[in-house]
Amino acid sequence: MATKITVRAPSSTANLGPGFDTFGLAIDAFYDEITLTKIKSGITIITDDDIPTNPENNTAGLVIKNMKKQLKIKDGIEIKIKKGIPAGFGMGSSAGSAAATAVAFNKLFKLKLNPNSLVKFAGFGEKASAGSIHYDNVAASVLGGFVIVKTDPLDVITIEPPMNLRMCVAVPKIDVPKKKTKVSRGVIPKKVKLTDAVLNISNASSIVAGFMKKDPELIGNSIKDVIVEPARQHMIPGYEKVKQNALKAGAYGVTISGAGPSVIAFSKNSFNLKKISNAMSKGFASANIECQTIICKPSKGAIHIKNN
Ligand code: HSE
Repeated sequence: MATKITVRAPSSTANLGPGFDTFGLAIDAFYDEITLTKIKSGITIITDDDIPTNPENNTAGLVIKNMKKQLKIKDGIEIKIKKGIPAGFGMGSSAGSAAATAVAFNKLFKLKLNPNSLVKFAGFGEKASAGSIHYDNVAASVLGGFVIVKTDPLDVITIEPPMNLRMCVAVPKIDVPKKKTKVSRGVIPKKVKLTDAVLNISNASSIVAGFMKKDPELIGNSIKDVIVEPARQHMIPGYEKVKQNALKAGAYGVTISGAGPSVIAFSKNSFNLKKISNAMSKGFASANIECQTIICKPSKGAIHIKNN
């Protein structure tokens, strides 16, 4: 039996506009890598990255703690973490580590957990950074492709994205608050107008139809959110300009990636994606902000890459 397993999990974008806390898409922009090794006892974390190493405050540590307890596994675990997904930028960083950890633990102990259980365990890690559990990023990172999260009971529906779907992501170089997701959830209205809810439901439904029909244009032009985006966009300097520039450069739709501050534009492979990325950079530059741009496509979920 293997005593050491390495799993790699992708970054993800949550919400896709109107699908707040419900939609997620795994994207090949960045990856986190987790290596789990069986040890005598306890949970030890090793990393060169600037993240908490106390298991109680660490995404991967919380996933292991909960899996050990609920699945009654006595062995100790050493967790080696290599972060590739920037933390706090709306790219599903904590979810990537959580997803890789749950999948690695499942493999290490040959547990044969079903997809919903893996997502549920990965969700414990989100609590470390977001303060609350929501499954959109972890579901995408565990399972890959486009996901729809049904809750109570948790049931994740996956849809294979169109092969030609492409995204341009702009990650601004700005300081983000420590508990960014918590902060950006705090600005969302508690009550919404029925007409706004109807608009979001119609666009969210059209996004699902776009994924089913493998139609990037229908996906992209349905990325319209009249509830969460207007409440959050003030937290992203230059947001409106970035969005308008990307749309003018040909993107089908633009929104905040997850809780931000990254901005994501939806397009397809035959379009001039460099032009869209440059337009987004110029948008941020108009607010005196530099950004990193990445052209990416949907990714598979967390995969086992080696038994060391
Ligand atoms: N759906 C979540 C949010 C994703 O927008 O707050 C962030 O983790």
